[in-house]
Amino acid sequence: MPDDPNRVLIFDTTLRDGEQSPGISLNTQEKLEIAQQLARLGVDVIEAGFPITSPGDFEAVQEIARRVEGPVIAGLARTHHTDIDAAFNAVRGAARPRIHTFISTSDIHIRHQLQTTREDVKGQTRAAVAHARQYVDDVEFSPMDATRAEVEFTAEVCQIAIDEGATTINIPDTVGYTMPHEFSAFLARLYELAPGLRDVVLSVHCHDDLGLAVANSFAGLLAGARQVECAINGIGERAGNASLEEIVMLLHTRQPDVGLRTGIVTREIARTSRLVSRLTGYSVQPNKAIIGRNAFAHESGIHQDGVLKERTTYEIMDATTVGLEANSIVLGKHSGRHALQQALAELGFSVSGQALNMAFKRFKEIADKKKQVTAMDLEALLTDELREKLAGYQLEWFDVEASSRRPPHATVGVRTPEGEELTGSFIGDGPVDAIFRAINAATGSDARLREFRVDAVTGGQDALGETSVVLELDGITGSGQGVSTDILDAAGRAYVRALSNAIRRRDEVADGEHVAEAMQPEAAAAP
Ligand code: KIV
Ligand code: ZN
Repeated sequence: MPDDPNRVLIFDTTLRDGEQSPGISLNTQEKLEIAQQLARLGVDVIEAGFPITSPGDFEAVQEIARRVEGPVIAGLARTHHTDIDAAFNAVRGAARPRIHTFISTSDIHIRHQLQTTREDVKGQTRAAVAHARQYVDDVEFSPMDATRAEVEFTAEVCQIAIDEGATTINIPDTVGYTMPHEFSAFLARLYELAPGLRDVVLSVHCHDDLGLAVANSFAGLLAGARQVECAINGIGERAGNASLEEIVMLLHTRQPDVGLRTGIVTREIARTSRLVSRLTGYSVQPNKAIIGRNAFAHESGIHQDGVLKERTTYEIMDATTVGLEANSIVLGKHSGRHALQQALAELGFSVSGQALNMAFKRFKEIADKKKQVTAMDLEALLTDELREKLAGYQLEWFDVEASSRRPPHATVGVRTPEGEELTGSFIGDGPVDAIFRAINAATGSDARLREFRVDAVTGGQDALGETSVVLELDGITGSGQGVSTDILDAAGRAYVRALSNAIRRRDEVADGEHVAEAMQPEAAAAP
């Protein structure tokens, strides 16, 4: 338990609950990059994944545990011993490992999903926490769907977990059903019924199905919780989790009135949000609180007039506090390798050797076409370079003939992971469609496009274009993103990455016993 009673622990679940959002398929490198940025952001706990669910998830949690310094690294597990063993094996390399185990306490779940009894839930809780405590000192227990469960039974189960050595009890509003006043009353009653709760950290985990995730989390903190589970950009199962940036900035902005504080380095918020959005392909709505591109924009003349005279007339936060407009880096086509290295270091990336050469090559290509290369461009470029190294297939080149009088025709060259160059051609409905189908022809895949989006990294006519693709291959979705000054190039890059991700996931499913195990009835719906 933290010594300061007003310190709120930030438990980030972007890589676990967040990654459960449809269409998100991060690979190990991408997860590691996000985890490293979460450490820079100053989160207290990173829930790195659900190791039993797939070999890929296991490997990502293991890498994060070994390589990310600072936060506690948690792995999720059902109450089965095999889940707990997998979670432990994945997090054991961390300086501070945590096992997070859960089982439902609502009758709806116990009857219909688990198809068991309350007695069995109590027994499973007892055995799971005791088993996890053999491995680590830091064990979190969650009674899933607690807010639709009977409070007396949930309290009994929580007390069992505490008696067996759980150090954090997390109360999930799994289906985003509760309301702030109801949630605080629920927690107050839990405190009365499970006296052991006073000796552990009480945590809250709220989903946003009714748009109340942040409000409910805040109500939980006012009721005594000192850990809040949240995700960057509010991503997560269905409507998502409580948004990290919103709950953190609420506590920061209203600190004089609320008196609670977090350890978050708020200036890293915008960058973390952009990284997660870029790697997941989930864009942030323009009017999203804190990190939407309009969150600090003033449209009405009266507001603009006020802000010009005195910023606080219409702004309750300073954009620089969350890291927006904080960076003055501007490079141009005459900037050298050293200037690039320094600019990247200022952004928190230490790049040297071959990686610097590659980044410099891409930078020069872009700087030749774009007058000014800003911090946002560099971030996009660097993340794009990272993907380049990872994707199975690479788009080597493309030719497109487009005209309003003939259907567009594309030919592409795609390099296989083994280094062979494949070519394919196709006549499509539009130039982008023609490139996508030519990639299918080259790789012999029957992938179907599900989503395609184009964004600009910055404003201005010469802005870098960022594209995002979600496709489906043999029932498996894969997503990919691409960055370039040329939209067709960015689209092609995004498509081959999405295809490579889908192939990787399909192969994992094909040979993953772990996946088969995770699809047993009680796990059919991940939490
Ligand atoms: O929503 C939920 O109940 C969960 C638990 C595993 C905490 O994600
Ligand atoms: Zn959840």
